Amino acid sequence: MKERIAEIKRRRTFGIVSHPDAGKTTLTEKLLLFGGAIQVAGAVKSNKIKKTATSDFMEIEKQRGISVATSVMAFDYKGKKVNILDTPGHKDFAEDTYRTLTAVDSVIVVIDVAKGVEEQTENLVKVCRLRKTPIIVFINKLDREGKDAFDLLDELEEKLGLSVRPLSWPIGMGQRFQGVYDLYQKKLILFRPHSKQQDDVIEFTDINDESLDGFVGEEAAETLREEVGMIEEVYDPLNQEEYLEGEISPVFFGSAVNNFGVKELLDCFVEIAPSPLPRTTEERDILPDDERFTGFVFKIHANMDPKHRDRLAFMRICSGVFERNTNYYHVRHNRKMKFPNPTAFMANKKEILDVAYPGDVVGLYDSGTFKIGDTLTAGEKLSFKGIPSFSPEIFRYVDNKDPMKYKQFEKGIDQLMDEGVAQLFIRQENNRKIIGCVGSLQFDVIQYRLENEYGAMAGYEPLRLAKAVWVSAPSDEKMKEFVQRRKRDIAKDKKGNYVFLAESKWTLNMVQENFPDITFHYTSEF
Ligand code: G4P
Repeated sequence: MKERIAEIKRRRTFGIVSHPDAGKTTLTEKLLLFGGAIQVAGAVKSNKIKKTATSDFMEIEKQRGISVATSVMAFDYKGKKVNILDTPGHKDFAEDTYRTLTAVDSVIVVIDVAKGVEEQTENLVKVCRLRKTPIIVFINKLDREGKDAFDLLDELEEKLGLSVRPLSWPIGMGQRFQGVYDLYQKKLILFRPHSKQQDDVIEFTDINDESLDGFVGEEAAETLREEVGMIEEVYDPLNQEEYLEGEISPVFFGSAVNNFGVKELLDCFVEIAPSPLPRTTEERDILPDDERFTGFVFKIHANMDPKHRDRLAFMRICSGVFERNTNYYHVRHNRKMKFPNPTAFMANKKEILDVAYPGDVVGLYDSGTFKIGDTLTAGEKLSFKGIPSFSPEIFRYVDNKDPMKYKQFEKGIDQLMDEGVAQLFIRQENNRKIIGCVGSLQFDVIQYRLENEYGAMAGYEPLRLAKAVWVSAPSDEKMKEFVQRRKRDIAKDKKGNYVFLAESKWTLNMVQENFPDITFHYTSEF
């Protein structure tokens, strides 16, 4: 019992989010180096889809192979077990990222000092804030010229709605970058880009000490004193409770590629970041130290080996202890299952694990029994909340093009939707299948995978729709009336829920005015 609680308390499960190119992969790699999980730089392949390859789905297939190895990266550091859950940076795969965010307890947001807050960061942070996920910000690439540090803090507040508290502060940037002052541990860390030696770290409790001038020069020392003075005046000291509530975000500055400022970030992270947090189910709250085992599937990775149609379901453990070869209850299928080969990940190595604790993620080999959001328990009927589908924005009719392969087509579509590749809607008027995506790359992925994995031929037909929104009504009569009157625009999702297909934002507004009792929802959970 004691051991179990200690194991839970030492876990730190988090995700790194950023706009592509801000430095997420580089930072991940440096963190893994500190944790001893990898020995050389370059071991973590970027799973991003390079800009040049946005329409090349063969490239996506290759990247998918790589990204499975980096789906979860675990290592020990200073007695803590750190689990990094990887998130795709490409915006067409944003839904994957949103779902992964349901399985983390905190996030680190990486910002490029020159670019500041970019679009993809804004979207992702919005989701984190809705869930009150604690956020630490790392401002990267200080070895390059970029925006003024105070302006960046303002930008974080304005664009991301974050209240911030700098914990390190840069001394110059670009050519003049000399290092950072660690406001948390009161240390001066000097940047030595071309020397092989470790960074110079100097205890420096009082920056008014004149010896500072000797290290960074008189002018830079004076600027640092002024700026630190301003910070201490404007920002309250970090209150860990507020950070854990998602109300304040510590900010660090550094340069990931130079491994600079990363150790300070990691040291602070393992100390202040939350251990596994409770999760909500429709029936009750799940506390991590609850003895009864529970977990949910937040990601499914298919086609690991093209010769077999195997999939790996990623399950976040929420309470109890997960053990190999033990019977667990698959709630949706209402049956017991056991897993002889649950997989753990240590950077790019996979290994069979015997036990796992809350906060850990295990990979379960699966031949089609899991879908996103599925729950495993010790026997209780539970359903985790908070793994919503988001309202898609790009739509096409999808049709089976080979009558001899109808079954394959149906099965392929069904399984791809369970994996969360896209969403399927059935238009009530004509019973046709509509696929809705967040990004257009998914259409290529679906067509390619249907053909290669299921032997089915899919054809698309364009569809002029701007939004699909879930519908709720105060009574069955009101719903019936709405569905009857807007027959042409009604579809059902895979669970049989009503969805309104809007041709434009304008239509949506107009219909809302005409049917004030009806509520439109932008996520499938409401
Ligand atoms: P991402 O996963 O967020 O998409 O970013 P990634 O780490 O792949 O970094 C994007 C580019 O930014 C890479 O260069 C990387 O080397 C560079 N980078 C990361 N951290 C820093 C930093 O602190 N300073 C500077 N100057 N550059 C940094 P690339 O040319 O796209 O790729 P590569 O050929 O260097 O791998």
